[in-house]
Amino acid sequence: MKLEKTYEIVTHLASSNAVVLFSISGCCMCTVAKRLLFSLGVGPTIVELDHHVAGREIQAVLFQLSSNGQHQTVPAIFVGGKFLGGIETLMACHINGTLVPLLKDAGALWL
Ligand SMILES: *[C@@H]1O[C@H](CO)[C@@H](O)[C@H](O)[C@H]1NC(C)=O
Repeated sequence: MKLEKTYEIVTHLASSNAVVLFSISGCCMCTVAKRLLFSLGVGPTIVELDHHVAGREIQAVLFQLSSNGQHQTVPAIFVGGKFLGGIETLMACHINGTLVPLLKDAGALWL
């Protein structure tokens, strides 16, 4: 599959769901990211790449998106159609208080 086509799949998933979490089963940091979102009351759309037909291609796209200093391609979190980042960015936003407003803006949290 072409990379542009895969990029479309990713942007479509991201823009049609408030929060999307790309994961691989057995990835610890993916579990940490899921737990954090669940604990905030968010039910993210979870895409397990090892169970997705285009999983490898999607990982290549995520790798391109996260090439600014991130080491792992998963978890990759999209909020409101935009690429937020991986676990480090998610945690940093949680700690500095920008995560909840971001989730509210995206319509992932109502309260
Ligand atoms: C919070 O952390 C994120 C991720 O590091 C950063 O992009 C953002 O600018 C920070 N915001 C504030 C208000 O510190």
